[in-house]
Formats: sequence, structure tokens, C-alpha cells
Amino acid sequence: MIDVDANRKRFYEILRATGKCGVEEVLAGLEALGFFSAPASTRFHLAEEGGLCQHSLNVYDEARLIKVLQCRLRPQLEARLADDSVAVVSLLHDVCKAEVYKKEIKHRKVNGKWEDYEGYAVDYSSFPLGHGEKSVIRLLRWGLDLTEDEMLAIRWHMHAWSLSDSPEDSANFNKASERCPLLAILIAADGLSARILETS
Ligand SMILES: [Fe+2]
Ligand SMILES: [Fe+2]
Repeated sequence: MIDVDANRKRFYEILRATGKCGVEEVLAGLEALGFFSAPASTRFHLAEEGGLCQHSLNVYDEARLIKVLQCRLRPQLEARLADDSVAVVSLLHDVCKAEVYKKEIKHRKVNGKWEDYEGYAVDYSSFPLGHGEKSVIRLLRWGLDLTEDEMLAIRWHMHAWSLSDSPEDSANFNKASERCPLLAILIAADGLSARILETS
């Protein structure tokens, strides 16, 4: 079971330690949206109370380790991968999901018998603006001082999953990938969290 209060405390500490302008407004906005009790998904990973914050912290832990290894192999990367940026994009890449999961009674068959259980359904109606782009816009509206690399990493963190059939989308994603090592770190950390740390 996820320790929601301990995770909230850790999340606050890491984000405040970045010293970024706008952090307090971001924390207040996340509280208002229910970010710290939200699940990470309806059923794929951490579909439980506090799952979204747990996922964000998992991505942070993964991203820090990946950064260290990559900088050991290519020391010149260090200047493009500030610790504060790694923290910001890891903790805040999925703020788009803060309010989209609603509790719902679902049905499942266990040993041949149907039973009710409390699960989650998704509802994008409060602010239907996409995924990574919604996170970036939400953070900017709260006044967070994001760098261009941080915006690119958050915007494109879903990798191929967020690309439409539009060639413009692919071209933008490819350009962002070429110039932004922070994006590669976030994509790797997000995938490893969901597929290794968060599987039962
Ligand atoms: Fe995401
Ligand atoms: Fe994620």
C-alpha cells in the first residue's frame, strides 16, 4: 500500500529544493486538483490511491540513476542535465493526469462469480488539452519558470504514443530528440518505472 503522506512530503521537499520560481503555486495547484491521492492509471500501473505521486517519484529515482550512468559515459552531457531539471521534469511530467481519474464501481468475475469493486474511470472533460502539452501549459499557467529543455522533455515524454499521423508531429518530436538529452532521460525513466518498478 502506498504511503500517501510520506510521498507527498518527499515530493514537496524535492521540488522546493530546486528553488524554481513558481514552485509554491505548482504545489497549491496540485493539491487543488487532487494530484497526491490520484492513481497513475485506470488499470495499467499503480491504479490505486497515491499512484500518480508514487509514479512521479519512481521516475525521479530512475532518471537520477540514468543521468549518472550517461554522464559517466559522456561527461559533456553534465552541462545539459542539471539536477534541478531532472527533478522538475520527473516530478511534473504527468500533472496532466491529476484530475482525470474518477472512482467508479466496476465488476469482475472471481472464481466464476461476479463481484463489485472500486476502480477508476477516465474523464478528460475538465481540461481536454492532451497529455504532455497539457502538463506544460498547466505548469506555465501556474507560473513555473520552465527552461526550453524542460518544456520539450515534458511535451514529448510519451514518445511515439503521443504522435498523431501528422508529419509535423513526427518532425517536431525528432528535432526535440536531437537537441534535448533531458527528453531521452525522461522517456527512459518513465518507461522503466511503468514496466519494471511498477509491475507486481
Ligand atoms: Fe505521461
Ligand atoms: Fe509517466
